[in-house]
Amino acid sequence: MSVPADLLAAAKAVRERAFVPYSHFPVAAVLRTASGRIHAGVNVENVAYPQSQCAEASAIGVMVAAGETRIAEVLVLAGGERLIAPCGGCRQRLAEFAAPEVPVHLCHPDGRHLRTDMAELLPHAFGPGHLSAGTPSAAAPDAAARIRTRLPQAAPAVAIVLGSGLGGLVDELEQPEAFDYADLPGFPTSGVPGHAGRLVLGRLSDVPVMCFQGRVHLYEGRPAAAILPMIRLVHELGCRRLVLTNAAGSLRPDVPEGAVSLIADHINLQGSSPLVGGPNFVGLTSVYDPSLRSVLGKAAARLGMELPEGVYLAVLGPQFETPAEIRAFRTLGADLVGMSTVAEAIAARHLGIRVAGLSAVTNLAAGMTPAELSHNHTLAAAKVAGDKLRRLLAAALPDLARA
Ligand code: HPA
Repeated sequence: MSVPADLLAAAKAVRERAFVPYSHFPVAAVLRTASGRIHAGVNVENVAYPQSQCAEASAIGVMVAAGETRIAEVLVLAGGERLIAPCGGCRQRLAEFAAPEVPVHLCHPDGRHLRTDMAELLPHAFGPGHLSAGTPSAAAPDAAARIRTRLPQAAPAVAIVLGSGLGGLVDELEQPEAFDYADLPGFPTSGVPGHAGRLVLGRLSDVPVMCFQGRVHLYEGRPAAAILPMIRLVHELGCRRLVLTNAAGSLRPDVPEGAVSLIADHINLQGSSPLVGGPNFVGLTSVYDPSLRSVLGKAAARLGMELPEGVYLAVLGPQFETPAEIRAFRTLGADLVGMSTVAEAIAARHLGIRVAGLSAVTNLAAGMTPAELSHNHTLAAAKVAGDKLRRLLAAALPDLARA
């Protein structure tokens, strides 16, 4: 992604005014707020070193004095050999006003640029929950606290949501530690066959993972927000990579039953969002992370496995589609159809978690073959594609954890 030119220009304009008689190291920080206004600050040194102030802190002061408190984008401009990131204190200062998904551009006058975000800079920010009475673990959200009681050191690098019939992956985990959803406060349980309702932490391909065996579906009559406890738990445990898997129907004859497809984008026809009620205009221009997709694509190539990319269209269900709906969805640009995944992907992006999606194709969509569709068929067919999906994940995980 390119550097936002207006932020960079604002940073260049003020950087010259940095007050740095001792270090001669001028830094500019620029904040774009939710209203679109830009506020800039520079570092201000003092002969008594601890009294100096970073550029980010200065910019925050300017923003607050202007009556604004919601940061939408951050840019830091500094010279030196390496790109400069906000210091630890300023990460926490920014976190007061910036959501985890807020982009942070680290820029150098010579044109070098790195785009990161608040979630990556400060995965375990000190938050309001830490201020309530009691020990930090008592104040932490309950499901995470329950896991930390048994596994204090748990640090999953990748979270995986296992779709219908795909739960068998957990049998391959080393050092598995299972938690029933019923024992995780706030977790709704799923009554759908093929969904066990368990979270299993362990290691796969030597990567610490957390696997959700079973998920909530909107067709169970729950609001989309019912998926939030699961995604929040991923975030609470410090995990910033999420692989969503599902069983799906294929709209493309060249991607038949038994195939695995990499989700490139989605179309949400579920009529709801997990963010309803908490207005947040999170951008969804690249929900399915390009780096994670590239890692999965390369792993598939190493295995000699076809991995066609496709657009996943989510319906509410629980009924399967009509042939006319499938024809309509094809004209909308869909390659896959299913009843899950998109709410989880939206919530994850909202929290700054990077997402990948894999569909195990269990059938050609309605009307493409003479057969009537059924959930039993989905479960049986998921085993074939599920085996492939398992091999793919096992092969990709070490690189996914680093991507
Ligand atoms: N449609 C909707 N959801 C599905 C399908 C389908 O054809 N197959 C598996 N899940």
